[in-house]
Formats: sequence, C-alpha cells, structure tokens
Amino acid sequence: MRRLFPLTADPTSAPTARPTSAPTAAAPAGVPLLGAPDSDREWSLEEIAEAYGYPPLGPDEAWLRANMVSSLDGAAYHDGASQPLSGAADMRVFGVLRGLADAVVVGAQTVRQEGYRPARARDAFRARRKAAGQPIAPAIAVVSSGLELDFDTPLFTDPLVPTLVLTGAGAPPERLARARRAGAEVLLAGEGAAVDPARVPGLLAERGLRRQLTEGGPRLLGQFAAAGVLDELCLTVSPRVTSGHAARITDGPALEVPADFTLESLLEESGFLFTRYRKVRRSPE
Ligand SMILES: NC(=O)c1ccc[n+]([C@@H]2O[C@H](COP(=O)([O-])OP(=O)(O)OC[C@H]3O[C@@H](n4cnc5c(N)ncnc54)[C@H](OP(=O)(O)O)[C@@H]3O)[C@@H](O)[C@H]2O)c1
Repeated sequence: MRRLFPLTADPTSAPTARPTSAPTAAAPAGVPLLGAPDSDREWSLEEIAEAYGYPPLGPDEAWLRANMVSSLDGAAYHDGASQPLSGAADMRVFGVLRGLADAVVVGAQTVRQEGYRPARARDAFRARRKAAGQPIAPAIAVVSSGLELDFDTPLFTDPLVPTLVLTGAGAPPERLARARRAGAEVLLAGEGAAVDPARVPGLLAERGLRRQLTEGGPRLLGQFAAAGVLDELCLTVSPRVTSGHAARITDGPALEVPADFTLESLLEESGFLFTRYRKVRRSPE
C-alpha cells in the first residue's frame, strides 16, 4: 500500500473534530513517500490504524464515519453483495476501521443480505482498544423499522458486546419484545416506526459510543448524508466495472444543496484507491 496524498512523512494526519473553518487542501511540506523503496509493501494493521485515527473528541462529541466500496462505474454492489467489488487490501481497511470504532451502524437490509455476524475481538487491536477505554470489539447497531430480523443468529445470541437495535417507538411491539428477549439493547430514535437519522450519533454518544462507523447500506447512508450528520467518508474505489442497475453508495432523496467534502488522504494498493474525505463544516453566518 502506498500513500498518494498527502505527500508527507507523517502517516497520521487525523482530522480535527468538527472544524468550523474550511480546511486547507495543500499537502503539508514533508518527504514524498511515493518513490520510497518500500512504498508499495503491504502495510501492517497497525500502520493502517495510524492512518485512520479518529479525531480527538470531547465527552459529548460524536464522529460518524462511513466505510463503503464502489465500482469504477459507481455501483455499490454486484449480485446483491459488496464482496465482488472488494479485495484483500479493502478487507484489511474494513477490519481496521471496525477495530477503531466503538459502534458499527448498519441498515437491516445489509444485515439480512450479507449475513452479519458480531464483530470479532482481534489481537491486533487489543492494546489500542484497551488504551482508548474501548471494549474488546465494537457493538453492532442495526437500524430497522420492521424488525424482520433473525434474532436466533449469533449477531443477537452470541455477541462479545450486546448488539443494539435502533428503531422507532412505533415499531411492531411483538418484534421489539423479541429483540429484547434475544439480548439486544433497543434504542428508540423516532416517534413512528422509522429512525430519525439525525438522532443516531447523539443517541449512541450518550452511551459512550462516540467513534461511530457506518457500513451502509446505501439507503441508510443516503439518510445520514441528507440529515447532515455524516462527518467522514472512507470510500474505496474498486478497479472494476459492473454496469447494471445497482444503487450508488447513497440511495435516497437528493440533497437540496450538494454537501462539500475535503480530501484527507488517498492510499493505493493493487489499483484500489482508499479515499478518506471529511465533511466541510461551514461556520454559522
Ligand atoms: N458498497 C458497499 O460498501 C456496501 C455497504 C453495505 C451494503 N452494501 C450492499 O447494499 C445492499 C443493501 O443496502 P440497501 O441500501 O438496500 O439497504 P440498507 O441501507 O442496508 O438497509 C435498509 C433497511 O434499513 C432499515 N432502515 C433504513 N433507514 C431506516 C430508518 N430511517 N428507520 C428505520 N429503519 C431504517 C430498513 O430496515 P427494515 O426493512 O428492517 O425496516 C431498511 O429496509 C446489499 O446489496 C449490500 O450488499 C454495499
């Protein structure tokens, strides 16, 4: 893996929490790594983790990062799964982003379609998580209104930390009871059956889950983007073309005004581009 941007000797260019002014796009002066002799070797999980640190957060602050993969022509899945777009380096980044997170927020359709399991405790992140005061694995937080989820699967019956279910107060009561019986912690984030996406980061932060990672899918991510609560997008551009009619990585109503993001870093391995963009927060007029 090699760093294409910024060209600096310092691989740890973590963004700062909720900046109020437009960031500078200029690369800091440093030693270009592109031509370095070992610039294309496989990075350790530790090195990738250094490159993807969350910004320092105050006790009440949350940071919602998304991690998605897209084909060159913009598809978010092929044959109903993201795996055909992914590759070895993408899976390493995926694992590292989980290893850094307090909670992984995911839409119910992705859970159903990709057969989500509980997050693993991985030795590579044990010391880092302990030092950061995190449990050994992130909690998976499933967003659903209908709660048509299989509560007999390990995601609910056998997680290392209890799986969360984010839903609305109007969700089917018998399914709510079923989720609780299965051991899930149910968080109500809406008056009807739906979750208000704008409430999700704060609700999780109240439980100490401030370093947040959403893995989509596109319909959920579209809502986070539209609600203006997406702080960071880690988008893998896969060197594959799929054509067809798959959704893009956000699938929902258009934003009234397109949201601006600024490039934090760009890594490359085997033709895959690992982009990391941070939302530009404008200071109030
Ligand atoms: N390219 C990538 O990186 C990537 C990442 C993840 C997934 N995927 C792919 O994307 C596809 C699935 O994505 P998707 O967009 O169809 O679905 P999704 O976003 O994963 O899940 C949609 C479901 O989430 C629940 N949901 C979403 N917003 C909600 C809200 N505001 N309140 C309550 N519940 C809400 C609903 O569940 P209920 O129906 O239970 O109410 C809804 O049906 C799969 O093919 C998967 O492989 C790709």
